[in-house]
Amino acid sequence: MKKQTLLYTLFILAFNCTNKKKEASITAIYVKESHSYAKPNEAVIKHLDLDIVVDFETEVITGTASYAIENYEASEIVLDSKFLDIISTEVDGRPNNFELGSFDEQLGQALRIPISKDTKQVTVHYKTTDKTEALQWLSPQQTADKKHPFLFTQGQAILTRSWIPIQDSPQIRITYDAKVVVPKELMAVMSAENPKQKTVDGVYNFKMKQPISPYLIALAIGDLEYKAVSNRTGIYAEKSMVDKAQAEFIDMEKMVVAAEHLYGDYDWDQFDVIVLPPSFPFGGMENPRLTFATPTVIAGDKSLTSLIAHELAHSWSGNLVTNATWNDFWLNEGFTVYFEIRIMEALYGKDRANMIALIGRQDLEEAVEGFKDEPEMTKLKLDLSNKNPDDGMNSIAYDKGYLFLRTLEEKVGRDTFDAFLKNYFKTNAFSAVTTESFIDYLNSNLLEPNGITFNTKEWIYQPGIPDNQSIIISNKFENAEKTLQYYLDTKAVDISKTQDWTTQEWVHFIRNFPETVTTDDLLRLDNAFDFTNATNSHIAMVWYEQAINHDYHGNDVDQKIEDFLIRVGRRWYVSTLFKAFKKADKVDKALAIYEQSRPNYHSVTVNTIDMLLGYDKE
Ligand code: BES
Ligand code: ZN
Repeated sequence: MKKQTLLYTLFILAFNCTNKKKEASITAIYVKESHSYAKPNEAVIKHLDLDIVVDFETEVITGTASYAIENYEASEIVLDSKFLDIISTEVDGRPNNFELGSFDEQLGQALRIPISKDTKQVTVHYKTTDKTEALQWLSPQQTADKKHPFLFTQGQAILTRSWIPIQDSPQIRITYDAKVVVPKELMAVMSAENPKQKTVDGVYNFKMKQPISPYLIALAIGDLEYKAVSNRTGIYAEKSMVDKAQAEFIDMEKMVVAAEHLYGDYDWDQFDVIVLPPSFPFGGMENPRLTFATPTVIAGDKSLTSLIAHELAHSWSGNLVTNATWNDFWLNEGFTVYFEIRIMEALYGKDRANMIALIGRQDLEEAVEGFKDEPEMTKLKLDLSNKNPDDGMNSIAYDKGYLFLRTLEEKVGRDTFDAFLKNYFKTNAFSAVTTESFIDYLNSNLLEPNGITFNTKEWIYQPGIPDNQSIIISNKFENAEKTLQYYLDTKAVDISKTQDWTTQEWVHFIRNFPETVTTDDLLRLDNAFDFTNATNSHIAMVWYEQAINHDYHGNDVDQKIEDFLIRVGRRWYVSTLFKAFKKADKVDKALAIYEQSRPNYHSVTVNTIDMLLGYDKE
């Protein structure tokens, strides 16, 4: 009742505004959201002009953010800011006062700027501080080439506000122009139209003409080179990485073609990937036009490139059709995993696709088990108010989201489902979707017209996994299990059985060691397959996890684990290993390593590991 009254009031408000001021187009009514101070139904930013200077000496970005706003006769505009030094503000070109609200650990501070009812433009002069959470400044030693420093940003979920004052809610969309000044030996790239070469003076101008959510504004600066893969795909990386990366991601164009064939045109013109230094906290981040990626996916054999398919898929699910709030995060990630696996199937066949799906299914099982005391965290639609939206970044959104869509596909048939999804992306392009508006859309465009009943609400609003779940089967994995069983029964390794294994089979083999596996077994397997020296990061990670679980110390594996944790900052890997130490009652050992590795990690990894290990910052 209350909600309806609010919506009605907003509707009347919007209607009146449209009538009074014909030129202002009232495009959207924004939903209530708990991770932003902005009041976009009163005044909302539409375009950002960013003008910044990046100083690697002081590790500070200084500059100006100017916004074109849509103003529904508001008396103030509210932006989000966190750990920023706000120097001054202007309104329609005239100096103006501003007010910073009280500080909240998660949200930061509201930046309130008084405006008049016809204000069109607002400017903020600001500096970043050493507390900024989005930015990671890297010394030359932390890069691949070790010669120049590096900087990258990470905006998702609510970190953009720590390097740009902004209305940091995913339902808001803006276009942007940026001028970025960097030391002239470095190149700057953004989630925008990008240079392919360094400029002589270190001045870079960017344009992002498609409207995007603020969490997708991104910047990376380093000694970068560009290598094209096709006329609309390519790689940015440091010199020593760029050829390797180009070879690894050589199928990028094929992926874009497959994706377009499935769900409609790629709307962002260019699809490039930047390979970042190893401290990048994620596998990948779908910054529009320029996916950010960890170097740990470069395995030398294209075996981990489903990550590229995943980030590419976000060009539809996430960047084009965006979760309206972080409680709807599963709409971004569940759809993306589904789409990723469809791309992988199109390029490499069902066997590969089902192995990826089954690894996700096992992760999901573990996540549900891990949340047995907090079952509400296993719902697709979450309530993350008063929580960090990062808490929703786990296998539930990804793999339960995937399983829901796969089950739905099996129920309605692939052709019908594909036509539905294609339309969903087209109809909702460049807008935000809530879980509820998705359910309405699903009912009226898929279920009702086809006379199908489906337990959608159980999947979305109930904890756990519904009984009608699709069952994922992989013959390849069954073989891997047989090979493992053969070893356990005979203590003999039959190398002929594993010769053509892919990374996924190795991962499955290693993850399936029984509790009773002995250190002698591990040593024998290690000597046969050299797991401790695996160059494939995923295989190495699951092996190290087993080594920790089973107190295995052969072949100098402890040193390898330590080196890995110091070099790599990818949160999923790092947290898996620190969790294993914790489970094995070796927190002291973990803390000793963490003491050395922590300075190399980005804030999102630091936050997770501090909490996990109870690290005392003082
Ligand atoms: N958008 C996510 C990364 C993310 C999610 C960052 C939430 C911050 C908050 C990205 O698309 C992603 O899912 N990355 C995965 C890779 C993947 C193949 C599942 C990762 O980094 O592991
Ligand atoms: Zn994703």
